[in-house]
Amino acid sequence: MKSIPLPPTSHQPAPYTGPSAEQVLALRKQYLNPGLFLYYKKPIMIVEGKMQYVWDETGKRYLDGLGGIVTISVGHCHPHVVAAANRQNALLQHSTTIYLQPNIAEYAEKLAAKLPGDLKCIYFVNSGSEANDLALMMARLYTGNYDMISLRNAYHGGNASGMGATANSGWKFNLPHSFGVHHALAPYPYRGTFGYDDPDAGRKYADDVKQVIEYTTPGKVAGFIAESIQGVGGFVVFPDGYLQHTYAHVRAAGGVCIADEVQTGFGRTGTHFWGFETQGVIPDIVTMAKGIGNGAPLAAVVTTPKIAAVMAQKVHFNTFGGNPVVSAIGKAVLEVIEKENTQANCLKLGNYILAGLEKLKAKYKVIGDVRGKGLMLGIEFVKDRTTKEPAKEACAQAVENARELGLLLGKGGLWGQTIRFAPPMNITQADSDFLLAVLDESIGAL
Ligand SMILES: Cc1ncc(COP(=O)(O)O)c(C=O)c1O
Repeated sequence: MKSIPLPPTSHQPAPYTGPSAEQVLALRKQYLNPGLFLYYKKPIMIVEGKMQYVWDETGKRYLDGLGGIVTISVGHCHPHVVAAANRQNALLQHSTTIYLQPNIAEYAEKLAAKLPGDLKCIYFVNSGSEANDLALMMARLYTGNYDMISLRNAYHGGNASGMGATANSGWKFNLPHSFGVHHALAPYPYRGTFGYDDPDAGRKYADDVKQVIEYTTPGKVAGFIAESIQGVGGFVVFPDGYLQHTYAHVRAAGGVCIADEVQTGFGRTGTHFWGFETQGVIPDIVTMAKGIGNGAPLAAVVTTPKIAAVMAQKVHFNTFGGNPVVSAIGKAVLEVIEKENTQANCLKLGNYILAGLEKLKAKYKVIGDVRGKGLMLGIEFVKDRTTKEPAKEACAQAVENARELGLLLGKGGLWGQTIRFAPPMNITQADSDFLLAVLDESIGAL
């Protein structure tokens, strides 16, 4: 493969003096969860990050095309976020909600202003799984119903209720965990029954939700949960109208609608601040994590005061949720998003890159589909464009090749057949050209 120069940066990484990658790997193997998995045949160790770039222990620089799994929203160690964290770290790190603390209140006001309609009541938690667990509980308490509809190819977390709502065998343990959750068809135009060529696909996939409610539940449901674009499932974008029709069916059956914005929120889709807005709906409950904290353990559930009222029947407490440090970070992240107009950057560069991906699709038969919105872009690999047999190995090798050339990418989809590109939202035009050139070289070398 021919090397492609990374766009220049003024950042000089500090000399690395810690343990070697081999030592770290040995410690991980000895002391950490044996189920952890690593990307790359030769694991990469990341020791420093600055905005859209990361460095390994040898000083090699990479464009972070996955952003720590769609989590670095405004850039690694963004100075405004670091300053806010440092200021608060020196002042007070923890207090809990049993005392008044200004950060959580001010941050909640700022975050609520980003949400439409009555979505003004916020619960801070620490992870996306926790947020979805709480959202499911709220839906059940509020409606008095138990059954939930989720989607095949969804990922909603690794705890019991997150795993229950998830529908991808790779992430589901052999334990009872899906109580009351029914999985409707994934509205997946490339692989599903209703394709890109069907202008009515959104309504038809939504009809499946109606049928699942009518056939598999008591006819009344607690709610429906969906990512606004399926993330782990390989950046699957739903056909237009899907959520509008689905929400109508769910509400007619007494349920509430939950949007999992863990990957799609905070302007990443480019056209809108929230992924659900791209489908013209307003959910009853929104869950968010990852990009909300740019790497800090921060997550939230936002709902209406009416739904929240049922949660006041008992104490609901979360020790770290809305902690002073993460609240300072969350507020700083919103300030950067506003000041640097990162959403507009997602739109502009997302469209540019998608056009480049279309050209790569025309060039390489192994690419079956390219898709996405904003800086959330997927490339699905197939062995054969007619049978659409997933090409997991080709996808994995392209990701390996890109790493050699200085680009980190993600994988997704049931079979690991889809490259995922979701970098920090501050990448530049030069980074986009680098990405496209590296993909061309990496796929060409297969
Ligand atoms: C859409 C979605 N929801 C929920 C989660 C769970 O978040 P966490 O890993 O923070 O628990 C994830 C994590 O990848 C996710 O992508």
